[in-house]
Amino acid sequence: MVLTGKGLAKKYGSIQVLRSVDIEIPQGELITIVGPSGAGKSTLLQILGTLDKPDSGSLEILGKNPIGLAPKALAAFRNKNIGFVFQFHHLLPEFTALENVSMPGWIAGRNNETVKKEAEALLTRLGLKDRMDHKPSELSGGEQQRTSIARALINRPAIVLADEPTGNLDSKNAADLHQVFLDLRKELNQTFIIVTHNLALAAVADRVLEMKDGNLTVQTGTIHTQ
Ligand SMILES: Nc1ncnc2c1ncn2[C@@H]1O[C@H](COP(=O)(O)OP(=O)(O)O)[C@@H](O)[C@H]1O
Ligand SMILES: [Mg+2]
Repeated sequence: MVLTGKGLAKKYGSIQVLRSVDIEIPQGELITIVGPSGAGKSTLLQILGTLDKPDSGSLEILGKNPIGLAPKALAAFRNKNIGFVFQFHHLLPEFTALENVSMPGWIAGRNNETVKKEAEALLTRLGLKDRMDHKPSELSGGEQQRTSIARALINRPAIVLADEPTGNLDSKNAADLHQVFLDLRKELNQTFIIVTHNLALAAVADRVLEMKDGNLTVQTGTIHTQ
């Protein structure tokens, strides 16, 4: 398993957001998580992404227990292995789309030219071939979102976590993004955990999990094995 969570619980004030969440994800699986607003989907994703800690329960990611890592080691582990696609883009305003996408690769110390080529290829896949030299303020909301998606993928993280990634996209761009996820899963065997209301994406997922009343249940699908 690339990721295993057992008995994950999280409380905010008097609200028990996660009661006892069990989740097991093999490498290369693409799962979607659905459920009503306020059900705890984003909370769960933050915990699986090691950005937040559960009150109780255990987590194993790529054979490691991230909850036990010191902050610096945890940050390094996260940067190397987990890509985040969140609703808030946090693109750097002074830099072009191409530079924003390249940045995590440069920070990781990879070859500048290789990173730039991969960034161009990712942006092209996401329909931004003619927008690469624009700064975030010159891009539409959907274009900024696709840029942040390319940035999340540049270091080829083993696990990609996405929180409603098609939220600001029209149906054509949403469909293109789904195809990018599916292509990358096939080419790089990356694992995708995607919170979404998008039925088309849920339809192509290996499994659909539903967050409800603080627990996660299987809505459709079986474990994906190749
Ligand atoms: N940092 C926080 N502090 C207090 N309450 C929070 C915090 N984050 C989330 N919540 C609460 O936890 C519940 C689940 O939120 P969330 O995980 O964002 O749900 P979803 O993503 O399914 O809409 C909500 O009631 C929300 O208000
Ligand atoms: Mg949410």
